[in-house]
Amino acid sequence: MTSTAGIPDVVPAGRLAAGAQPVLPLPGGLELRPWRLDDGDADALHTAGQDPAISHWNLFSVGSRDEARARIERLHARRTAETGAIWAVAPAGGAAVGLAGLNDVDLAGGSAEVVYWVLPEARGGGIAVAATRALSRWALDELGLHRLTLCHSTGNPASCRVAEKAGYLFEGTHRSALLHADGWHDQHVHARVSGDPA
Ligand SMILES: CC(C)(COP(=O)(O)OP(=O)(O)OC[C@H]1O[C@@H](n2cnc3c(N)ncnc32)[C@H](O)[C@@H]1OP(=O)(O)O)[C@@H](O)C(=O)NCCC(=O)NCCS
Repeated sequence: MTSTAGIPDVVPAGRLAAGAQPVLPLPGGLELRPWRLDDGDADALHTAGQDPAISHWNLFSVGSRDEARARIERLHARRTAETGAIWAVAPAGGAAVGLAGLNDVDLAGGSAEVVYWVLPEARGGGIAVAATRALSRWALDELGLHRLTLCHSTGNPASCRVAEKAGYLFEGTHRSALLHADGWHDQHVHARVSGDPA
């Protein structure tokens, strides 16, 4: 497709939804793989939705295993609609310990926003950085997006560290841009662009 301004789409429609969602290997026997509707993943998502830090910074809560399953179905529907691509971070053969993926995918414009969280017991071992690096490589080099944005509250230094270590350059601060439970937060904007150094 070509826009009305005569600029070709950066990624052709249909490429994100085509075929199965890939499994991407991570160090330490972990992988990025599609979310499953089984009890293990539903319970992991339910636990995440009850975790104070995740519900605060990622702005979501999950009240039950059934609600978690419904959310997982919506994640898959968003990939089919080509508006998102969200993976579970999990040990091979095990239940999810984290989430990483792309929101607000704009194939025609070549952009998306990176999101992640890690369950409390799995934090501090480099999982978020490894997952962000792997999905960014896939999104830029395989899918063909041009620009990935990563935003976090200035009150969340752990997320800032993840962004820096995963190769997302700091671009600036948006004032009073995120509404959390305790009020408005300034947000750091980081981005990784096709061709940035590894
Ligand atoms: C932020 C989060 C995803 C990081 O996951 P993780 O797997 O523990 O991250 P990693 O181990 O890959 O790296 C974390 C880095 O942040 C650093 N860090 C952790 N807490 C920190 C803090 N309070 N201040 C500064 N740096 C901090 C760690 O030391 C590490 O850096 P290092 O390797 O140089 O020591 C996880 O803590 C989380 O899910 N938090 C709650 C939800 C959240 O913040 N989501 C992101 C919303 S933008």
